[in-house]
Amino acid sequence: MTETSILMEVKNVFKAFGEDWEREKVVENLNLDIKRNQLTAIVGPSGCGKSTVVNLLAGFESPDSGQIMMEGGAVSGPSKDRLVVFQETALMPWLTTYQNVTFGPKLRGDMPARSLKEAADRIIDTVGLREFKDKYPLQLSGGMQRRAELARALINQPLVMIMDEPFRGLDAMTRQLMQEFYLRLCEEEARTNVFVTSELEEAIILADSLVVLSNRPTTVREVIQIDLPRPRNLNMLSSPEAYDYKRHAMEMLHEEALKSFSGTESGSDFLKSYAQQP
Ligand SMILES: Nc1ncnc2c1ncn2[C@@H]1O[C@H](COP(=O)(O)OP(=O)(O)OP(=O)(O)O)[C@@H](O)[C@H]1O
Ligand SMILES: [Mg+2]
Repeated sequence: MTETSILMEVKNVFKAFGEDWEREKVVENLNLDIKRNQLTAIVGPSGCGKSTVVNLLAGFESPDSGQIMMEGGAVSGPSKDRLVVFQETALMPWLTTYQNVTFGPKLRGDMPARSLKEAADRIIDTVGLREFKDKYPLQLSGGMQRRAELARALINQPLVMIMDEPFRGLDAMTRQLMQEFYLRLCEEEARTNVFVTSELEEAIILADSLVVLSNRPTTVREVIQIDLPRPRNLNMLSSPEAYDYKRHAMEMLHEEALKSFSGTESGSDFLKSYAQQP
């Protein structure tokens, strides 16, 4: 991980949804640099607009004002250079692991059959699914499905992998294994990642830089450089350094979550009574 130039730039982005009086500002004054070959983790309070930021980066949505740039050009729509792995599975149930992984390149017809087969076999090996390549998604465990999903994105060699809470919903043990697996994958091959998660510890252990988003309309509250040494492992989360990152980010997230809570009538009543406690 040597080259750290900027791959994507979010410049002063504003995004709202809905009409007139119902209009809801979701993203405001968002400025963010995504550095090449780094993992940028994004955390923010529930419902603040994280998936909207993902959709903007991917080009599924366009900003109302401001710009999203990639390698100097404006992002104007989806591209195989920017692939998203969502929380919900996008595997096609009627296709095997191998068929799911090769589906995109086959559809586009942009890889000769032999190199596609080689690439698919290599990637399926990398994600540890060699013995499951002829199985259908329903025959795979949750963790295996997530890995098949990763393989499906990786075969396209995107310039940036954008992950929207990819491990949400997995049981605790599988989630830990996936975090370890993803750490290895990132550390063994240079890749640019944007990783959205609501789990602060997951963000800290994976990240080179940690972006803390504010409550809605969301903007960048702070970017924290995570200087834990690499290769990393989950035990490092009990180090004093990791604890300091966690405490600092947690304070900000707590403040932001309280703001959204106090925005409702019952929420501000709760906060008043909370403040009056001895
Ligand atoms: N296409 C859309 N049309 C209308 N409103 C939308 C659209 N996309 C997002 N929103 C609104 O934007 C707000 C933020 O949603 P978003 O899903 O981006 O938040 P999030 O931080 O990803 O939430 P979560 O923590 O639940 O994943 C919500 O109030 C949602 O209703
Ligand atoms: Mg979301």
